[in-house]
Amino acid sequence: MSDVVLDLRGVNVFYGASHILFDMGFQARRGRTLALLGRNGAGKSTTMKAIMGVAPARSGEIHYAGSRIDGQAPHAIARRGIGLVPEDRQVFSRHSVDDNLRIAAKPGADGQTRWTMDNIYDAFPILAKMRGRAAGMMSGGEQQLLSMARCLMGNPDLILLDEPSEGLAPIIVQEIGRLIRSLRSTGVTIVLAEQNMHFCLGISDDAVVIDKGQIVYRGTIETLKADKDITGRYLAI
Ligand SMILES: Nc1ncnc2c1ncn2[C@@H]1O[C@H](COP(=O)(O)OP(=O)(O)OP(=O)(O)O)[C@@H](O)[C@H]1O
Ligand SMILES: [Mg+2]
Repeated sequence: MSDVVLDLRGVNVFYGASHILFDMGFQARRGRTLALLGRNGAGKSTTMKAIMGVAPARSGEIHYAGSRIDGQAPHAIARRGIGLVPEDRQVFSRHSVDDNLRIAAKPGADGQTRWTMDNIYDAFPILAKMRGRAAGMMSGGEQQLLSMARCLMGNPDLILLDEPSEGLAPIIVQEIGRLIRSLRSTGVTIVLAEQNMHFCLGISDDAVVIDKGQIVYRGTIETLKADKDITGRYLAI
């Protein structure tokens, strides 16, 4: 069986008349973490929205776990086992941490429940201390952790993380890095959108760099790190 979990082929996305993604093509492999890197406005979030069916591809194909998902509705794509942690986090601010997690609970695409409230709180000790707190009263970093925990409550096999470290204090960024590493060791596949390559080192295996909606690098993150031409030209260092 192929270890390719996610396969984008020649994907083009438009917002109205604006052409945003140009023939986007890359693959994510089972159990690995792929860093989707690029500057502000490069098209990282749009790529994730295209995968989720929120910004549908006008042409090209998106395959997940061996079948085509482009053209399907976002809820149907989510039900196949893809979880998105969006850049704006989207927690229910008036609900408690506990309720936010409970609302998000559902079995995975295989019918299994790997994540329960108990093991989520074990994995997220910071959240365990604030079960009763309204999400809207939490810091940005705590909300980011809650958003990740909510995603896991849906037992996804592929997790799309959109700039989880953006704008957060170093201590929370470290915690998020630790969580991503431990998630990777559970065998899930992760696509991690980031502007910051350094955050991805030691967390990611593979890397794709995009610029103005086009792929400018595909390879391992280690090879990317050594490529001063690409990192200098397309990433903010
Ligand atoms: N709803 C929209 N309507 C029109 N244009 C949009 C819309 N959302 C994004 N864009 C444009 O699409 C391009 C890609 O945006 P996108 O949000 O995918 O970038 P990004 O790589 O996620 O950037 P950031 O790091 O700032 O989150 C940008 O030029 C942006 O201005
Ligand atoms: Mg974005």
